[in-house]
Amino acid sequence: MGTYRIVALPGDGVGPEVMEAGLRVLQAVERRFGHRFLVEEDLVGGACIDRYGVAIRPETVTRCRGAHAVLLAAVGGPKWDDPKARVRPEQGLLALRKGLGLFANLRPVKVYPFLVSASTLRPEVLEGVDMVVVRELTGGIYFGRPQRQWQSRRGRQAVDTLRYSEHEIRRILKMGFELARARRKRLTSVDKANILESSRLWRAIAMEMAQEYPDVELRHMLVDACAMHLIRRPADFDVIVTENMFGDILTDEAAMLAGSMGMLPSASLGRRRRDGTGLGLYEPVHGSAPDIAGQDVANPLAMILSVALMLRHSLGLPQEAAAVERAVEEVLRAGYRTMDIAHEGSMVVGTQRMGELVAWALEEG
Ligand code: IPM
Ligand code: MG
Repeated sequence: MGTYRIVALPGDGVGPEVMEAGLRVLQAVERRFGHRFLVEEDLVGGACIDRYGVAIRPETVTRCRGAHAVLLAAVGGPKWDDPKARVRPEQGLLALRKGLGLFANLRPVKVYPFLVSASTLRPEVLEGVDMVVVRELTGGIYFGRPQRQWQSRRGRQAVDTLRYSEHEIRRILKMGFELARARRKRLTSVDKANILESSRLWRAIAMEMAQEYPDVELRHMLVDACAMHLIRRPADFDVIVTENMFGDILTDEAAMLAGSMGMLPSASLGRRRRDGTGLGLYEPVHGSAPDIAGQDVANPLAMILSVALMLRHSLGLPQEAAAVERAVEEVLRAGYRTMDIAHEGSMVVGTQRMGELVAWALEEG
């Protein structure tokens, strides 16, 4: 039984609704297992811009740094979308990733047998899909300098910089190898080593590190080939490890295997303590979905499953995490669906009702 400090950042669009459902499930964990979760809410994204003129305040980042874990729902929306704007909601997310040293983004993709019909792919392709994409999150072209636009005599020009250090590559590959070791022991390292120097360094380091993990089968795959294989034979993948932007693109693709983004959680992790736990930020893969915001129809399961990841990776409560995941499966198996994953014969429920159902299943289970 423990006491844990958690910062909740509901953000924009459907964020507050799915966060409410997620926190309801967290309270159910509290009651069933006798823990105490001290949840503090704060602002991020457009909500923070409207109130304070910045996407996140420094004191919020400090508060997050002092917590056991951070839950974030979603940021962004058309209101703050002007590409010329100096302040954008996404900056809040990037500031958190960088400010908390969250260099590894884990995105598990699991296809639930009773949800295969929600995917655009054929059921036989989806059978047995169960993978985790480990994406580098604080380096590469997202953060490399110089990054700017300027006026030249031949018109406007722009530059972004893709830079990686050995240290950054090693720590993310380590995360990939260790995760693979704890799963089916297959690691696919994705790069563009036929073109990019940074990828050649990445691949060389992966090959060196493979010596330390003789039990893990390491494959290298070019990112374009990976994009193809992800929809051709997705069940072949166990753990994929890749750099920041490749990971951004591949995780959206991988998300579609599961039918709806509304099902997929993610964990952003920094340095781990010896017991494997450490600060982390947990958020659904989906965005703020402004078109359905405020209607109580958004799927809260990605947020709820993010709570499970938090219990496992930051609080060191694997049984509690598994209980949440089981409760979600139970509710789905009973036939309850939010609109995005509904099919003939399912019982369509709203965001808050789905949260209540999972909370009940958890407390009874
Ligand atoms: C993601 C998102 C973010 C990213 C945006 C919102 C900054 O697409 O988490 O994948 O590009 O990393
Ligand atoms: Mg993305």
